[in-house]
Amino acid sequence: MGIELTDRVALVTGGVQGIGLGIAEAFLDAGAKVAISDINGEGLKAKVRELQGRFGENVYGITADCSQEDDIVRMVAEAVGKFGVIDILVNNAGRGGMHYFWEMAAHEWDEVVDLNLRGAFLCTREVTKVMLEKGTKGKIINIASTNAILPTTGIAAYCASKGGLLMFTRVAAQELGPHGINVNAIGPGSTMTPITEGFYNLPIINAGFLERTPMGRFGQPEDIAKAALFLASEYADWVTGQILYVDGGQSLMGLPRYLEGLVQSAGG
Ligand SMILES: NC(=O)c1ccc[n+]([C@@H]2O[C@H](COP(=O)([O-])OP(=O)(O)OC[C@H]3O[C@@H](n4cnc5c(N)ncnc54)[C@H](O)[C@@H]3O)[C@@H](O)[C@H]2O)c1
Repeated sequence: MGIELTDRVALVTGGVQGIGLGIAEAFLDAGAKVAISDINGEGLKAKVRELQGRFGENVYGITADCSQEDDIVRMVAEAVGKFGVIDILVNNAGRGGMHYFWEMAAHEWDEVVDLNLRGAFLCTREVTKVMLEKGTKGKIINIASTNAILPTTGIAAYCASKGGLLMFTRVAAQELGPHGINVNAIGPGSTMTPITEGFYNLPIINAGFLERTPMGRFGQPEDIAKAALFLASEYADWVTGQILYVDGGQSLMGLPRYLEGLVQSAGG
């Protein structure tokens, strides 16, 4: 892409697979040093070993649960201990859960919100302290979702957490702008990852989603990584408090395309 992050230090949460891994690899390709954290310790060990074959000491793994305050404090301290600074934080670790809200136990709601919203707040808080202490003109990127604005039956906690993350992004951007720190969000649309592909490949789901995707295909982690690369780079120095939807146009489509077949084109 031509974007360079040479010697910039990034922390990417939930980076063993899917979108987080795509972002971590794109940053490494651009020359960054990347601390990858994940709750999946075994998976992380194997993935980091594999990546070290290509990127050497530029990649480092930290096992941490991003819904737990103690783990987050330790994770940030470990990343700083390894690389000295954190220039870029990507709050990517996230989870869903499918239920009508009236059938949802309080702990299920909490599990989603504790990771997607509270966890992102805590990671941002801890990394911000380091950035302020070291005077880092940093970049913080929150991985939200089209569900930050599109209500979707069956995933109330997820939608609420991502909507909350969007507003947190905007307030954090206001507070950190005077310190030269940018805070933005990416709103991925339906992206093929290990957690989603089984679901997205169900024939009825696949057709329904594609019908609402103007660009006519599902996303890949690399699609999201390109936007993260931009927001992490100097090209985004004057961009803050924004959400960049990377969704093939899904966020444009609230309702089915009911006009087609009913309205004749101007050409007759
Ligand atoms: N895939 C999509 O269609 C899509 C769409 C919109 C937004 N998103 C968002 O993108 C992000 C990544 O999604 P994905 O599809 O790549 O998911 P994924 O499940 O494939 O990967 C998530 C990673 O996070 C890790 N993780 C889970 N819980 C964790 C915790 N408590 N602490 C630390 N790490 C944890 C997992 O081990 C995994 O490696 C999430 O925030 C998700 O909400 C995904």
